[in-house]
Amino acid sequence: MVARIVPVEPFDLVVFGVTGDLARKKLIPALYHRQRAGQMPESARVIGCARSELGREDFRKMVRLSLDEAIPEAYRDRDALYAFLDTLDYLQVDARSDAGWPELSAKLRENAHPVCAFYLAVGPTLFGEIAERIGRHGCRAEDCRVIVEKPIGHDLASARTLNRQLAAHFDEHQIYRIDHYLGKETVQNLMVLRFANALFEPLWRSEHVDHVQITVAERLGVEGRGDYYDRTGALRDMVQNHLLQLLCLVAMEPPARLEQEAIREEKIKVVRSLRPIEGADLAAKTVRAQYRAGVVAEQAVRGYLDEEGIDPESETETFVAIKAEIDNWRWAGVPFYLRTGKRMGYRVSEIVIQFKRIPHLIFGDRIGAVQDNRLVIRLQPDESVKLAMMVKTPGPKIRLKPVHLNLNLADTFEDRSPLAYERLLLDVIKGTATLFMHRSEVEAAWRWVDTIREGWSFLGRRPRTYTAGSWGPEESIALMVRDDRTWYEHLA
Ligand code: BG6
Repeated sequence: MVARIVPVEPFDLVVFGVTGDLARKKLIPALYHRQRAGQMPESARVIGCARSELGREDFRKMVRLSLDEAIPEAYRDRDALYAFLDTLDYLQVDARSDAGWPELSAKLRENAHPVCAFYLAVGPTLFGEIAERIGRHGCRAEDCRVIVEKPIGHDLASARTLNRQLAAHFDEHQIYRIDHYLGKETVQNLMVLRFANALFEPLWRSEHVDHVQITVAERLGVEGRGDYYDRTGALRDMVQNHLLQLLCLVAMEPPARLEQEAIREEKIKVVRSLRPIEGADLAAKTVRAQYRAGVVAEQAVRGYLDEEGIDPESETETFVAIKAEIDNWRWAGVPFYLRTGKRMGYRVSEIVIQFKRIPHLIFGDRIGAVQDNRLVIRLQPDESVKLAMMVKTPGPKIRLKPVHLNLNLADTFEDRSPLAYERLLLDVIKGTATLFMHRSEVEAAWRWVDTIREGWSFLGRRPRTYTAGSWGPEESIALMVRDDRTWYEHLA
């Protein structure tokens, strides 16, 4: 089945920080794929801005190199590449001074398109200044949008400051806060699974669900981002945004419509219902750890403290596990176990809905153990939805066996699954904010995370350690075992 291409208005997209990693590794490949799919309007302009002195041709060369690295052979297409390169322009613009701004403003005014989006692929300390200069230098089009990416602050107070700075120049509906997890296909599929199938909704509650697990395990370490990571840690880098967004999509009430306001309201209610974790609960319900040297994908890797850019005394966590509880009617008594870590044995992001035990077993215990039903939604590396069920094995006797009803999305649909940024960038152009975070969502998530962070600092304990290539520290296993449960680690 081939995906339908929804045409978008001709637009101008200005990317600040275009020479940085985010732009080169994610944004540019995403735009190229849209070009190849035929979704980029002919007159669209992508104007890269950065401090480096680059000519237009140098910039295009840089883009070609980025695409060579990022685009698999099967998706390379000369015509699409040249058409894409034609949309590109570059201007040397300094976010911290007025240098280059009059030129940017003039460029935007010549053949201006009604829709203009500014992607701030720069550190958050520059958000306010850039937002102010966009207005002061007359760069705003009729319909103007600004896109920002995490980290949106490093705690509630700094997030509020950033949100205020943006709000001084843009209305909330013009601000698109990206959490790229929301652009992932399977994450969107989660809403469809829940709200387009009658099967799950009656079961999606404390009467039938024993617990939920959300795992985002990475093989990567800090990858040249030591300085950022060491100031941030896994709680802020992953839990505050990606894991809480996944939790919200699993736990939210059905919104009345697929509209941004309706969805955001439901998600915010979930974050606000998260029980704060403080006092004695911190030790019982959270685990923080740092990786030691080990072996990942058959390669020996250094420990966190020996990574480049990391303070050798650092207490920053690279792994977090949390038992989260949602104090509302639907989820009372159903723990949501969250865990994420760098340098783990596998790259896997998965949501597991573990259903409760059957109330009464009619088969006796000699016919094989009955495994409780489980729905496993895998976001990456492959996208699949599996439902573990009990069946009878063939033969004259009744013997039970758990099997998976397995929906592998790659096998079901021939299409390449679009990259998260393809969807998100084009949604900004269309003015669809459903998959973006509202100011209040970001702030509510920080409030919950800050309590944990402050508790950890108060306790003043060093993080535990785990061997690179493992599933995390023993304490993470103990977190589950204490509740008579185990992490789901079935990778087949
Ligand atoms: C980013 C984090 O937001 O998400 C990174 O800053 C992390 O540390 C990345 O590696 C994971 O994203 P993905 O899409 O590779 O799972």
